[in-house]
Amino acid sequence: MLSWVLSPAASVLEVGTGTAQHAVYFTERLPGLRWQCSDLAGNLPAIQSRIDLEGGGRLPPAIELDVMGDAWPPGPFDAVYTANTLHIMPWDHTPVLLERSAGILRLGGCLVVYGPFHDRGVHTAASNEAFDRSLQARDPAMGVRDADRVRALAEQCGLWLEADLPLPANNRILLFRKPAGDPTSADPSS
Ligand SMILES: C[S@@+](CC[C@H](N)C(=O)[O-])C[C@H]1O[C@@H](n2cnc3c(N)ncnc32)[C@H](O)[C@@H]1O
Repeated sequence: MLSWVLSPAASVLEVGTGTAQHAVYFTERLPGLRWQCSDLAGNLPAIQSRIDLEGGGRLPPAIELDVMGDAWPPGPFDAVYTANTLHIMPWDHTPVLLERSAGILRLGGCLVVYGPFHDRGVHTAASNEAFDRSLQARDPAMGVRDADRVRALAEQCGLWLEADLPLPANNRILLFRKPAGDPTSADPSS
């Protein structure tokens, strides 16, 4: 899936690595990727265990990164990847994630957001509606997010929706692009 988006040696920052399943999966298939895992401090030991067991020597140690904190690496990165995080984080984390991602992407880079979404307040699948209810029961700050609201916020950060890809289990990938001609880029070398 990412192979048509990323060059074989792309640098990728993953936000909210969690189980590290995505990092292991993609770097097995694209071993030249420079994939940097990150997550909240409490998740780093488990991520490191999986990297040690299944990373095949292709993944550097995960770094601590709270979306709301100041420890974002400077980049620039070719891509920022985040999976199943927007519905876990409180909604106010999403604009920060988008803004900080835009700041560390190189010109022409992309933000890849994977997960369930609804459209203009309407659920696109019964399973996502049930999932949303279970999230809200667990913590009212959680919930399936609206793809259109995410897109509108991304545009305010200079990230443009390039693709909205349906995936199994009613998940989607929202692929946002930082235009190659953005004069506010943090990457003066490009
Ligand atoms: C449902 S898990 C997804 C894990 C993994 N990406 C996956 O798809 O298997 C949500 C992840 O978001 C992370 N997360 C929650 N709040 C965060 C924050 N403020 N900053 C960074 N990561 C956060 C959690 O620690 C957790 O790893």
